[in-house]
Amino acid sequence: MELYGIKRKAPVFFQECVDSTNTRIKQLAAQGAPDGTVYIAAAQSAGRGRKGRAFLSPPGGLYLSMLLRPGCRADEALSITPSAAVAVCRAVKAVCGLGCGIKWPNDVVIGGKKLCGILTEASSDKNGLFLVLGIGVNLNTEKFPEELRPVAVSVFLHSGKKTEPEDLARELIGQLDGVYAGWQADKNAFLEEYRALCVNTGREVLADGRPAKALGIADDYSLLVEYPDGTKANIAYGEVSVRGLYGYV
Ligand code: BTN
Repeated sequence: MELYGIKRKAPVFFQECVDSTNTRIKQLAAQGAPDGTVYIAAAQSAGRGRKGRAFLSPPGGLYLSMLLRPGCRADEALSITPSAAVAVCRAVKAVCGLGCGIKWPNDVVIGGKKLCGILTEASSDKNGLFLVLGIGVNLNTEKFPEELRPVAVSVFLHSGKKTEPEDLARELIGQLDGVYAGWQADKNAFLEEYRALCVNTGREVLADGRPAKALGIADDYSLLVEYPDGTKANIAYGEVSVRGLYGYV
């Protein structure tokens, strides 16, 4: 199958506007779509974010979901999402020339604001676990609604340059295919790269609502924090606010 010049085994579907590319991939999964199937949209009318939030998806972004049938248990697949964040950073660097960071656990950020969000949804069918890895990148957005302005950024707002969504899609699919193959061989293959990109390390955070210092990323991708009384904790899931990044200034 060829899309935008990439040859790969699994198909790539494109629609100008869909409700949610994650929803479309789930529908395709129910019809038996193979591992690696990709769905791309230029806009979404009902983009979904983490924690039941909406993900604003106007034209000019890249909204992409990939179906993964990793052949492992759900608890063994947790590191796929941070590994995908590494793939996004690589793709944005290659196509837009911008160095991004990762705000734990898997927001891609630049200049202290969110450039890309990732939502992984897990389900199973008769073939076992499948994951829908959904990635939304703010590319050419010129103006966000007022409430998002302090926290969201696009490649255009950061650099003044427009990017063809197709160019980023082509690079990102290639990076995701490579990261997925590397991850299947070694679930921690991208841990060092993730650590190097993580913007939380060494910064003050609010962890479980309490101020703490982020010491780094543990081998299971949890965030290791130290509270002012010297106690340490591994934050395994959820969100921390980082001083100087959106939400905790
Ligand atoms: C988040 O930051 O809360 C995650 C946002 C994930 C958005 C992407 S866009 C492509 C895919 N389709 C969706 O409905 N959501 C994901």
